[in-house]
Amino acid sequence: MGKMCHLINSSSTWGLNVLCLVFFLTIRGVRGSQSCTPGLDIIGRTWPQGDIQLEYGEPLKIYCILDETLMESRYPGKSSLDLVFFRNGRQIEPEHVTLINETTTAMYIEKPEPSSDVYICKLRLNNGSEQQYEDICMNKVIIGFKPKEPLNFSCVSQNWENLTCTWVPAPNHIATKFSLGYKLPGRIGRRTTFKCPEPKSDQKLPPNTCMWDASTDPSYRVFHENFKFMLTAENFLGTKVFIYPIHHFAHVIPAKPVGLSVVNKTSSSVLLHWKVPYPMATFPPGLHHKVSYQSEWDDPKKWETKYITTGVRENVKYFNLSDLPYANAAYKVRVFGKSSLAVGKGKWSESSNLNFRTAATLPGQSPKTAMGSFETVVKRSSRDVYIYWQAIPAYFENGDNFTYEVFDMKEDGKLSYLKPDEITKSYALFKELSLNSTFKFEIVAINCVGVNERKATIHVPSENRRPKEPTSITKTTFDGRLFELSWDAPSSTDIVNQTIFWCENMWDRPYQCSGYLDWITVTPNMRVYNITVPDETKLYQFAVAANTDQGSSGMAWTTCTVIHNSVVGKMDSVWVNNVESRLIEVGWKLKCSDRTNSVNGFVVYYCPMESPKYHNCRGSKLSKIVPGDRNTIHGIVDGLKPYTTYMLSVAVLTNNGEGPDSDPIFATTIETAPSSPENVIATVTGTAITVEWKPPSDVNGVLRYYTVHYDQEPKDHNQQIETEERTVIRDLEPDTVYNVRVSACTVMCGKRSSQILVRTETAIKHGSNAPRPKSDVADEDEENPNQSRHLSTSAIPAVLDDRKCLSIQRQVTKSQQQAKLAQEEAARAIDIFFESCVRPVGLDFDR
Ligand SMILES: *[C@@H]1O[C@H](CO)[C@@H](O)[C@H](O)[C@H]1NC(C)=O
Ligand SMILES: *[C@@H]1O[C@H](CO)[C@@H](O)[C@H](O)[C@H]1NC(C)=O
Ligand SMILES: *[C@@H]1O[C@H](CO)[C@@H](O)[C@H](O)[C@H]1NC(C)=O
Ligand SMILES: *[C@@H]1O[C@H](CO)[C@@H](O)[C@H](O)[C@H]1NC(C)=O
Ligand SMILES: *[C@@H]1O[C@H](CO)[C@@H](O)[C@H](O)[C@H]1NC(C)=O
Ligand SMILES: *[C@@H]1O[C@H](CO)[C@@H](O)[C@H](O)[C@H]1NC(C)=O
Ligand SMILES: *[C@@H]1O[C@H](CO)[C@@H](O)[C@H](O)[C@H]1NC(C)=O
Ligand SMILES: *[C@@H]1O[C@H](CO)[C@@H](O)[C@H](O)[C@H]1NC(C)=O
Ligand SMILES: *[C@@H]1O[C@H](CO)[C@@H](O)[C@H](O)[C@H]1NC(C)=O
Ligand SMILES: *[C@@H]1O[C@H](CO)[C@@H](O)[C@H](O)[C@H]1NC(C)=O
Ligand SMILES: *[C@@H]1O[C@H](CO)[C@@H](O)[C@H](O)[C@H]1NC(C)=O
Repeated sequence: MGKMCHLINSSSTWGLNVLCLVFFLTIRGVRGSQSCTPGLDIIGRTWPQGDIQLEYGEPLKIYCILDETLMESRYPGKSSLDLVFFRNGRQIEPEHVTLINETTTAMYIEKPEPSSDVYICKLRLNNGSEQQYEDICMNKVIIGFKPKEPLNFSCVSQNWENLTCTWVPAPNHIATKFSLGYKLPGRIGRRTTFKCPEPKSDQKLPPNTCMWDASTDPSYRVFHENFKFMLTAENFLGTKVFIYPIHHFAHVIPAKPVGLSVVNKTSSSVLLHWKVPYPMATFPPGLHHKVSYQSEWDDPKKWETKYITTGVRENVKYFNLSDLPYANAAYKVRVFGKSSLAVGKGKWSESSNLNFRTAATLPGQSPKTAMGSFETVVKRSSRDVYIYWQAIPAYFENGDNFTYEVFDMKEDGKLSYLKPDEITKSYALFKELSLNSTFKFEIVAINCVGVNERKATIHVPSENRRPKEPTSITKTTFDGRLFELSWDAPSSTDIVNQTIFWCENMWDRPYQCSGYLDWITVTPNMRVYNITVPDETKLYQFAVAANTDQGSSGMAWTTCTVIHNSVVGKMDSVWVNNVESRLIEVGWKLKCSDRTNSVNGFVVYYCPMESPKYHNCRGSKLSKIVPGDRNTIHGIVDGLKPYTTYMLSVAVLTNNGEGPDSDPIFATTIETAPSSPENVIATVTGTAITVEWKPPSDVNGVLRYYTVHYDQEPKDHNQQIETEERTVIRDLEPDTVYNVRVSACTVMCGKRSSQILVRTETAIKHGSNAPRPKSDVADEDEENPNQSRHLSTSAIPAVLDDRKCLSIQRQVTKSQQQAKLAQEEAARAIDIFFESCVRPVGLDFDR
């Protein structure tokens, strides 16, 4: 077998390749096919043997040859028909495989892709359903290119002390070896090649890197401006030389400047000083410099840059960095150097860094004020006045110990030496100023250097001249930075414009705002205004002032915040304003946060209650809509029943729907006159009339008594009866027509029942057994002697006037006397009369 392989190798064109391959294998340390090592008991071979390297484009052909004798003893019946090829573990498609004869098969691929693959020839053993293979021989196949030009060849000189060249080999599966050297221009130079020095033992250079410096052999020839680099690349398929002319001085990157310091400074400039690092002082083309700087007020990502391209050979540099915008500000400065010949990015040195602070100066601005930027808090005999201004930006403070001062204060034109009770970054408070005086304030900005002479002024009119300020200032928050401000303005016609203020603060009202104040002037008719605030993460307070030609009302601050589109809350301030017998007036107060523009009315729910004890309705809930707006504070429910306890609740109606009901409140309508008693019957017994009735259908209160009116034209008599529904009027004039009517009384008396005319009898009857009310009367008198006595002797109630009273009393007495005298003589006649004449008289008599 070894013999056969040797024979094939030496007699084919592949032989050379195989020899070369052995060389490369040794270099790369790749081991040959294990299963084909001569001397092992194997059943076949591949050819070519071992690793195969091809140039991309060449065809790949591998033979697989079985050993006939071994086959016969070990796998009788197997032949080259059972040979299969695998690439990286996957079987090669049959179209690439050709049967040559009984022992030999060939695999052929016309143009394999650049790759590095493992091919294995195997013998297929059919064992039942399972496929099994026996490995015969393995080949590593590498498809690649002739040496290609490397990528990114570059040379950089660090501080003109060492020269480092690097490159990135182009992708190639075939291993390629590089060797680099440079030549100097000129006739002599052309002859010598400065090869890539062997790295010193303590030096670890990355692959594909060469470094020359003063200590290497060959060394770095620093004074030559131009080098010609020659990079030789060679591999199994060939050798190629690439030439790179390098402008050496343009590729020198200096070390960072040395000894950077501030020599002198003003509030807007700084004199910088530094030195060029050794050995760049003698660098023939010299250096350019770059100064980058930023202040504490700038975007930390942004740097201002100045370039210095003059004095390239100066070793000691001074640079006046001028026009710095901020005084008393911290600055960072970075100074870079580069070869004056360098082009493109990445040629700047590392930077030398320095921090400094510009000198202080006077404040850069004065505070700003608006016509209405003050607030007055009026007390009984004096007022507290807050003076507001717009703080200057911190970057204009320009010095330490910055503050504001009320520089000058005039009361009615006369200089006042009052000091503020409190002063912050945005307001000053003067307590207990006169109500009658006008004031003028002047505010200045001051720091450790001095005062900015420009002043901001504020006029505060006397209280009687001060216009009325807007009221009900409500802010509605939308998402993000948008606020809607709404207010009610005083109905004064001389308002010329209004000012809306917003002030950034940590807390909302009632904390006085001490942050940045800003404002806008709007037309006098404006009542709603949308404001977009600068920063949605901050909290803002809002105020509105009304201005006339005489002066400003001063600021009126928002008292509450309304969340837009939020469901209006339950009303918790609801009460009864007024109760009458048939109506209840309910009063309420909207929560500040519910005082939105979208309120368009209220609904009052009410129902009479089952009993005051249990909070449930008798019948269904009724409702009454009260149209209105956020300023509506009461509503009336009418058509109610007197003397009835009602349960009431109120809900807000908004454009977004109805809010929840308030907790219920209770009210009892007051009593009123009842309706007339019903079914009134009057029965005559001699000179007595028995009157009976039923209670009124609507009592409308507590029934206190009835009044029975028995009129004998033109006289009017009446009797007041407790809550009995029956009475007997005795001792009337005989044979007289009486007009009987009954009314019921609570705190007042109701309408009288319709009249019943009855005539008393003319004669007295004795011993009658007729069903007459005599016994009833007696019973009644026995049962209730006091009542009876009251009726007979003092039937005239206190409610009647004296004249009537006396007249009735006289009549009663007279009747009693007459009756007594006539009683016995008249007994018979009365009895007869009773039997024939007594009959009930009444409209609704239904006995
Ligand atoms: C089969 O073919 C190969 C290659 O052509 C040859 O070397 C070998 O001798 C042949 N074997 C037989 C048994 O013919
Ligand atoms: C078939 O495979 C089984 C298990 O893999 C093995 O025991 C048996 O000897 C094989 N038969 C032949 C003929 O190789
Ligand atoms: C070659 O350099 C360029 C630019 O510096 C870089 O984008 C690219 O990745 C480099 N190529 C290689 C293979 O390193
Ligand atoms: C090249 O010189 C610079 C400057 O002296 C030094 O910082 C750097 O380490 C040197 N590089 C090598 C590879 O020695
Ligand atoms: C700083 O500059 C000022 C004005 O330009 C000058 O009077 C002063 O002498 C300078 N100081 C130094 C140390 O150079
Ligand atoms: C730097 O320049 C500014 C503005 O041109 C000038 O006021 C200042 O005096 C200069 N400083 C020095 C030290 O020359
Ligand atoms: C302010 O004026 C009112 C009348 O205009 C007067 O009664 C009051 O005394 C005055 N108050 C002061 C402090 O002058
Ligand atoms: C600033 O104020 C403090 C305390 O009031 C004082 O000690 C300091 O000297 C002042 N600084 C300047 C620059 O005036
Ligand atoms: C304010 O903005 C809101 C939301 O965009 C809008 O609904 C509302 O009508 C605006 N109000 C005014 C007065 O423009
Ligand atoms: C607002 O009205 C006042 C008083 O007349 C006037 O001085 C001011 O200029 C007005 N402001 C604007 C922005 O019109
Ligand atoms: C009648 O009046 C007397 C004295 O006023 C009183 O003591 C008595 O209890 C009364 N009787 C009735 C039944 O009201």
